[in-house]
Amino acid sequence: MALEKSVLTDNRIREILQQYGLTLLAVRRLPFGSANCFEIRCAEGRFFLKEYQSDISRGEAEREVAVTEYLAKRNFPAARFRKTAAGDVCVSENGHIISVQEYIEGRTYLNDLPKELLPECAKYLGMLHALLRDYPMEKGMDEAWAESFAAEDAAVKFDALLKAVETDGGASEELPGDADTLARIRADLLYKKELVRRLPQWKHWFEGITYTPSHGDYTACQLVCDGNRVRAVIDFAACKCLPAVWEIMRSYIQSGGACKGGAPFDTADFVNYVREYMKYAPLTERDLAAMPYVYLFQLSRSSYGYKEFLVTKTENKDDLLRFAFWRTAICREIERKAEEISRVCQERLRSVCGIAFSGEVR
Ligand SMILES: Nc1ncnc2c1ncn2[C@@H]1O[C@H](COP(=O)(O)OP(=O)(O)O)[C@@H](O)[C@H]1O
Ligand SMILES: [Mg+2]
Repeated sequence: MALEKSVLTDNRIREILQQYGLTLLAVRRLPFGSANCFEIRCAEGRFFLKEYQSDISRGEAEREVAVTEYLAKRNFPAARFRKTAAGDVCVSENGHIISVQEYIEGRTYLNDLPKELLPECAKYLGMLHALLRDYPMEKGMDEAWAESFAAEDAAVKFDALLKAVETDGGASEELPGDADTLARIRADLLYKKELVRRLPQWKHWFEGITYTPSHGDYTACQLVCDGNRVRAVIDFAACKCLPAVWEIMRSYIQSGGACKGGAPFDTADFVNYVREYMKYAPLTERDLAAMPYVYLFQLSRSSYGYKEFLVTKTENKDDLLRFAFWRTAICREIERKAEEISRVCQERLRSVCGIAFSGEVR
């Protein structure tokens, strides 16, 4: 669901497309994306118009286009952006940046990527990391970032939300959700408050691991698929130099919906995913050992979903709460299995550490 209301009318879209040398025939608003997205039929073909959220600057949008072009030039399946007659990739409209790209036929998934597509998901992440190895990107989620984490500040954030459940919950009507929902929120917040206090012991895992220019939000909804193949990897708006293992583990969990409905984390299946990745980009033993801790460190801190449900009461608060429940279930399961995941990944993949076999793009 788009995060903001669109500032575009069909007429304005027609005028914008003229700048791109395109003649509009029909517009269809697409029901997905955090940006406002449109399928555009033109006399010249089919296109995809993206109206970025107001907090995305022209520089950020241009960065997305530049990375995408860099990859496309190297035969990586990426989007093809159009340029205006003046040679610009973006235009501005009422404080929003707009870009236009060729329409890619296929379907995207949310957290329900079919199992057969998981190896493809791992493969393109590996290729992506191999191709972007020397691409300049700002570093994030690094040793300094981990070091600056203050457990007590995070605990206070969860405490404030707990108070909201306890105070308003006692007064009933004030809060959305039935008694079971509120009890579950309370249990989750209590767990997360304690979890963030345990995080400092894992700060050291951010040292000596591989940081790589990366997508930054690599999940199933950024893959346009056609049957059992990935046709394109899209949406590089969040690209950054990040721990490779964070993007690997997050993409596996979020794309395939791991741990949903209380399902246990399948370590053997995850090892297969990492093995597929390692055919294209190398990891070290240290990376494999650090993986669950780096992932958990980042995920644990978030109160996203609970705050929107309890405090800001956002329009889609029920969906956001479901998402929050799922992410906390992931935290519980990964924390429970962290030692096993770390050990099994090392045992099974030690022999391929440091080797990237192919890196070739079909
Ligand atoms: N070039 C394209 N052709 C067809 N559909 C696309 C294209 N680019 C994106 N989409 C669809 O639009 C959705 C949102 O686009 P995306 O670039 O990921 O923006 P957002 O920042 O909103 O996530 C994608 O999940 C995908 O389903
Ligand atoms: Mg996206």
